[in-house]
Amino acid sequence: MRHLLNITDLTVDEVDGILKLADEITAHPDDYREAMRYKKLATLFFEPSTRTRLSFEAAMLELGGSVLGFSSADASSTAKGETVTDTVRTVGCYADIIAMRHPKEGAPMAAVQVTTVPIINAGDGGHNHPTQTLTDLLTIRREKGRLSNMTIGLCGDLKFGRTVHSLIAAMAQYEGISFVLISPQELRVPQYIERLMREKGCRFSEAERMEDVIDQLDILYMTRVQRERFFNEADYIRLRDSYILTPEKLIPARKDLSILHPLPRVTEISHKVDADPRASYFRQVLCGKQVRKALIMFLLDPKQRGEA
Ligand code: NCD
Repeated sequence: MRHLLNITDLTVDEVDGILKLADEITAHPDDYREAMRYKKLATLFFEPSTRTRLSFEAAMLELGGSVLGFSSADASSTAKGETVTDTVRTVGCYADIIAMRHPKEGAPMAAVQVTTVPIINAGDGGHNHPTQTLTDLLTIRREKGRLSNMTIGLCGDLKFGRTVHSLIAAMAQYEGISFVLISPQELRVPQYIERLMREKGCRFSEAERMEDVIDQLDILYMTRVQRERFFNEADYIRLRDSYILTPEKLIPARKDLSILHPLPRVTEISHKVDADPRASYFRQVLCGKQVRKALIMFLLDPKQRGEA
């Protein structure tokens, strides 16, 4: 049985296979309408979500499967004091696969110790978010035609932004990747991510001002300042508007830049940028549903993994 807790649980070849399958399902949706018939996906969301949960559910429904679950801890027995592991053991009696989001780093790892069905980490605290990374990789591949030889700017809350951590871990596996890390001092990437980039031999530089580096980038990955992970509100208020991308700031940027954002956006991208053809974030939303279909099939159908 395979789970997805970290993006590096998948080999580069497996990621490639999942992205190809996503393209194949997108091109021939009718061939996959019954692919997951009689299978059930449970979405256990102990933290808010719009895209991740609904794209998982839409993906499973479009594959002919069914969905069940809850969208907040309050709506489950967690509110009565049940542990995550007891919840997961229980849901394993009802569903064939579980996608879970939890505010505690490592909660999906605890789930794996007791589960009888595959577990997908749909975001654990400020740690990882591997299915957003699959979404990001599919988007980058479609926008740029490649996953190698590019300069990726990551801007905003690089400390608590779990999508940033998983994306760096994934992109560090490809040739010729340079990262430009744009954040205030207080929101720099955690040390283990810096170590990972060094170990993988990636070039990286840091900047505090987006204006100083925007002309170098092939990809600009914007992020929201993660209010819910701050210890005090005053720090959040001081840092929340550190970066606001506007059409004026994009003037020196490359014509073939792609602007990504895992969403939700708060103030960090002006709505005026949405009309710019370089704004890729709503195309990215669609990639999220398409790649999650491929991931569900990869985890539930051994044939997709070359095992049967
Ligand atoms: C992200 C998350 O939950 O980490 N959202 C998402 O899944 N698309 C980003 C965020 O909440 O800022």
